[in-house]
Amino acid sequence: MKQKIEQLLSEVEAFTADSLHKVEEFRVKMLGKKGDLTLLFDEFKQVSGEAKRELGQKINELKNKAQGKISELREALENTTFTTLALDTSRPGTACNIGTRHPVAMVRNEILNIFSRLGFTVAEGPEIEDDWHVFGALNFAPEHPARDMQDTFFIEKKEDSDNPILLRTHTSSIQVRAMERQQPPIRIVCPGRVYRNEAVSARAHCMFHQVEGLYVDTNVSFADLKQTLLYFAKEMFGSDVDIRLRPSFFPFTEPSAEMDVSCSICGGKGCGICKGTGWLEVGGCGMVHPNVLTSCKIDNTKYSGFAFGMGVERLVMLKYQVRDLRLYFENDVRFLKQFAAA
Ligand code: PHE
Repeated sequence: MKQKIEQLLSEVEAFTADSLHKVEEFRVKMLGKKGDLTLLFDEFKQVSGEAKRELGQKINELKNKAQGKISELREALENTTFTTLALDTSRPGTACNIGTRHPVAMVRNEILNIFSRLGFTVAEGPEIEDDWHVFGALNFAPEHPARDMQDTFFIEKKEDSDNPILLRTHTSSIQVRAMERQQPPIRIVCPGRVYRNEAVSARAHCMFHQVEGLYVDTNVSFADLKQTLLYFAKEMFGSDVDIRLRPSFFPFTEPSAEMDVSCSICGGKGCGICKGTGWLEVGGCGMVHPNVLTSCKIDNTKYSGFAFGMGVERLVMLKYQVRDLRLYFENDVRFLKQFAAA
């Protein structure tokens, strides 16, 4: 027994460990339920007489040494683990992935900034709208084909309600809400998502973004509209671009026009982007139809106004020469990262 104690004693003295796990293993081996020391104590119970005193002392000494060694190693390892973790400045850092603004958001903000310099404020409204705000108040006759022309997503059936709920097809609905809410002067730009039931392709999407504008006051004329759009085009595409207005039709404006900007890529000479015409179509515009003012309880003998609307994705396409609309909504970071410095 004495020999066994001596052997364990030298084992304890010689023991070193480089991890807390190893210290724990050693503790179990020595002091655990079936550990060497526990067995030794069991054996010691049989000892009697003179030997008991001497052996008892030795076993206690061994136990103290083992316990001392274990807590000493534990403490040392706990401290080193902490210090190495906290102070190891050579460890590589965790790279953090920095996002970028979405090109649609960037161009939308740019449009809003340009118009804010002309005194326009931003107005927003719901994407889930009713027929009145998207069509009715905007002078669409009840069975007007334009309701279908814009490929509306109806949420309620037309047969079930005289003012069915639907997804807005343009942000002109925000302008109706603004005119219902306040009397002129009104000078707002209305950004937002719009929905049309179209097959998704490189040139069309069932969801896109618009910015529309409205200015209603006394003596607002077509010349004001033209100057506003010219200012916008020069700020957006550069001071050497020109604009062109082509006669068109919208139920809510009279007269109505399509707005083209001279192609900033080829300087108007004709290229692949403008399909050889030298002009790029960016949106529609016109003088607010008197019926629209009346629908919104604005006196059309006292006030007149102009309105315009453009697709944000289309402007991003023209500005950055993106050729496929679908890229905007796939969220492929390889595409989005290209706008990091823009
Ligand atoms: N609301 C029209 C559209 O979505 C654009 C437009 C706005 C046209 C204002 C004229 C005046 O196509």
